Amino acid sequence: MHNAKKLRQIYAGSILNDEKKQENFNVNLKIFYRKHFGKHYTVNINKRKGVINMKKKLVVLTMAAIFAMSAVGCGSNDSAATTAPAASDANTETTDSSATAEVAATGDVANKDKPLVWFNRQPSNSSTGELDMNALNFNKDTYYVGFDANQGAELQGQMIADYIEANIDSIDRNGDGVIGYVLAIGDIGHNDSIARTRGVRKALGTAIEADGNIVSDPAGTNVDGSATVVQDGKITVNGKEYVVRELASQEMKNSAGATWDAATAGNAIGTWSSSFGDQIDIVASNNDGMGMSMFNAWSKDNKVPTFGYDANSDAVAAIAEGYGGTISQHADVQAYLTLRVLRNALDGVDIDTGIGTADDAGNVLSDDVYKYDADQRSYYALNVAVTADNYQDFTDSTVTWAPVSTQLDATAHPSKKVWLNIYNAADNFLSSTYQPLLQKYDDLLNLEVEYIGGDGQTESNITNRLGNPSQYDAFAINMVKTDNAASYMSILNQ
Ligand code: BGC
Repeated sequence: MHNAKKLRQIYAGSILNDEKKQENFNVNLKIFYRKHFGKHYTVNINKRKGVINMKKKLVVLTMAAIFAMSAVGCGSNDSAATTAPAASDANTETTDSSATAEVAATGDVANKDKPLVWFNRQPSNSSTGELDMNALNFNKDTYYVGFDANQGAELQGQMIADYIEANIDSIDRNGDGVIGYVLAIGDIGHNDSIARTRGVRKALGTAIEADGNIVSDPAGTNVDGSATVVQDGKITVNGKEYVVRELASQEMKNSAGATWDAATAGNAIGTWSSSFGDQIDIVASNNDGMGMSMFNAWSKDNKVPTFGYDANSDAVAAIAEGYGGTISQHADVQAYLTLRVLRNALDGVDIDTGIGTADDAGNVLSDDVYKYDADQRSYYALNVAVTADNYQDFTDSTVTWAPVSTQLDATAHPSKKVWLNIYNAADNFLSSTYQPLLQKYDDLLNLEVEYIGGDGQTESNITNRLGNPSQYDAFAINMVKTDNAASYMSILNQ
């Protein structure tokens, strides 16, 4: 008895101050419960959220002690006999309180059956673009949330073409009759990046096709117009014909392997401008992170219009200083959809609730901001061009979309735990626009989201942190590579 008391003090006292131990405790308790009662239980002691009050703490301490005692030497039969009543009391007490040190029975839902949303990187073959329908149909509550990449890409290309036409008198800086542009490619295997490269080339007449698709490979350097992946385009404005040339393009990948890398783009514009600077009339970029890096490094001072994608707040603000324009991919709608599909699946309601059909709080989206493709199990937000004409409406990219910003009632939609990762904690769009939005919507939708930031290079850096999926009610996944859905599915299938 004396020993048990001591043990209880040591064990229980220390777990409350150590997250790793809390996690081990949760896992061990689950194993213990499963062994003795054949059920799945999870104990969650979350200090960061301040979720332990004294009363609950005692319950948890008792459970910790019980587990500790059973773990030290008693035969398992004995411990089952002595601990069962106390443990089930503890469980009853904590689960019927909505408070805090909850022992949340995640019920009997296996991880493979829990709601899952892929977002921002659509499960697909990174070479062919073919969708990974296996991943998109992982279970009946699996969806993808992104945006309409082709519609956005067309808008981006058109925005640049319109700018050229409207500024034809000043655009050709060295007056050689060739409107030269450089292009920063984000990730040659990412469907959004591929679409944007194609959209720009199509609108500017520089695209060539192979197998029925516009080639999206980087051209490298093409100052003389001899590259094989692009051609010289022609535009006629006010009766005068101009050549349009992709002077250079490359994937912006750093030496460690991170793609869409802004610093790499900043270096690239340095190299390009020092060898053929006065031929560059336009800078185009697959996203604002890279676009702003090039703008700040060179094009702002040289008054060369630069176009990006994402409508991050800093890029929108830069329009006042000469940034040419950007595309809003309606991250405010995407972030909502990312969490909303999980909320609906967890509530067991029609998936369209709060999306195409108003929910009990009145949240609803109109069909000019998203579309749903049932065959692809995918929600796509629609894009809007942001230019000097309308940028004042887009200055803060982290404001939630008003029609879906009403708080859900916590009784009807009780708190649930979601595991969510961002593939690269340093990604400009995801960290400065998407995640802040998710953090607003998680409150509105009563979801307790654990955010995991990856390094942008290795999938295992993220999957390693999905070590205990039973602790969560649902999952939101942003892969490093669109081909890698299987590595997450195998964890959830275990
Ligand atoms: C965004 C990029 C971002 C990428 C990350 C794209 O949709 O436009 O800015 O780097 O997603 O996967």
